[in-house]
Amino acid sequence: MSVFATFSGLTLNSPRNQSFKSLFSSHFINPIQVNSVPYALSFPVLYLSEPSKFNSQRLKPITASTTAAVESPKISFRNKNPKDINILVAGSTGYIGKFVVKELVNRGFNVIAIARERSGIRGKYSKEETLEQLNGANVCFSDVTKLDSLEKSLENLGISIDVVVSCLASRSGGVKDSWKIDYEATKNSLVAGKKFGASHFVLLSAICVQKPLLEFQRAKLKFEAELMKEAKEDEGFTYSIVRPTAFFKSLGGQVELVKDGKPYVMFGDGKLCACKPISEPDLASFIADCVLGEDKINQVLPIGGPGKALTPLEQGEILFRIVGKEPKFIKVPIEIMDFAIGVLDFLVKIFPAMEDAAEFGKIGRYYAAESMLVLDAETGEYSSEKTPSYGNDRLEEFFERVLREGMAGQELGEQTIF
Ligand SMILES: NC(=O)c1ccc[n+]([C@@H]2O[C@H](COP(=O)([O-])OP(=O)(O)OC[C@H]3O[C@@H](n4cnc5c(N)ncnc54)[C@H](OP(=O)(O)O)[C@@H]3O)[C@@H](O)[C@H]2O)c1
Repeated sequence: MSVFATFSGLTLNSPRNQSFKSLFSSHFINPIQVNSVPYALSFPVLYLSEPSKFNSQRLKPITASTTAAVESPKISFRNKNPKDINILVAGSTGYIGKFVVKELVNRGFNVIAIARERSGIRGKYSKEETLEQLNGANVCFSDVTKLDSLEKSLENLGISIDVVVSCLASRSGGVKDSWKIDYEATKNSLVAGKKFGASHFVLLSAICVQKPLLEFQRAKLKFEAELMKEAKEDEGFTYSIVRPTAFFKSLGGQVELVKDGKPYVMFGDGKLCACKPISEPDLASFIADCVLGEDKINQVLPIGGPGKALTPLEQGEILFRIVGKEPKFIKVPIEIMDFAIGVLDFLVKIFPAMEDAAEFGKIGRYYAAESMLVLDAETGEYSSEKTPSYGNDRLEEFFERVLREGMAGQELGEQTIF
């Protein structure tokens, strides 16, 4: 789910139903063969996107029953070599999830990527394409929204899990979908992961949950709270909650418009919502650091990219400089959004089915006015200095790339708001 401010008119689409055909195609490579596992592999559920790299020894089989494996004293995964650490990645097919899988694979971990049979926005990718995108990981096609299906899939793998990384997120940001994915499905990945031995959970959350005014933020916060409670009650269990600032993709919506000579549109004086944008590889690297990093145990970790915070006005100035055009700005009063939200809130009382449209209006308003920076509890102000920086990739380079290659691969989700 993303918000995108090109001001091309309000486009509110209700989430589409996605029909997922079963594609048991010839691309099926090899189900995991784990001897000494008490489970009958009733159906091939694990796909290896790179068969040459496959080594069944790398996946740690469960040796007794699942329960026994979980209950027996365990060596901390932190003392093992990455090749012996099984990491379950939920939300592996998302904008950040794909990079997280790639980073974890590059660091030598055994990655089990959970994916839908049709992944991506509106299910646009087939199984084959998903396998290609998750190259190097063991792909398990399952349903994170159904705990029993997810547990069955993991049981069929006959392996134990050390760490769960969740990059799950509602693709629409709609009210029900946010609770279904940002809370319930994420919780399913925790429950199922723990059942199969996971003792650490890395959560991709968002910095904006500091000031929760939207449903997806409330859903995320509820899960965060339950995750922390889990670590409090279970001594052997830990977490890292990653709360990033804005992703590059969320700031690239006007690059091609400016290139075509259009003005850069912003709200208020253009200084309302600053952020420290972070690239997907940098964020993926930070998330991967959370797997073994002792300093990241049981921490809530706000994180931004390198450099100082940038306001929309500064982002626009960078863009015009790169494009080599005279800056042209349109400043839209934020009150316009308040008016639109007021209308939508009124309509939703008469037509409850417009609930999501009203929520998308609020999401647009939120990102037009709130900074994606650490909210200083003492001053009540957003603070660039208190927002940690990580990585090397700069927004300027991203803009240059979009100018060369367009926004392909930077899809914003199912909704385009403003
Ligand atoms: N955009 C920003 O600037 C920003 C900034 C800070 C934090 N964040 C947070 O970062 C997180 C991840 O963002 P992202 O852009 O990487 O998300 P994304 O590209 O929308 O990916 C969402 C992931 O969740 C999965 N998912 C969604 N609905 C599902 C369903 N019904 N069943 C199974 N899987 C489902 C998707 O699977 P499919 O591929 O099968 O759909 C995909 O793997 C979000 O929590 C967001 O709030 C975003």
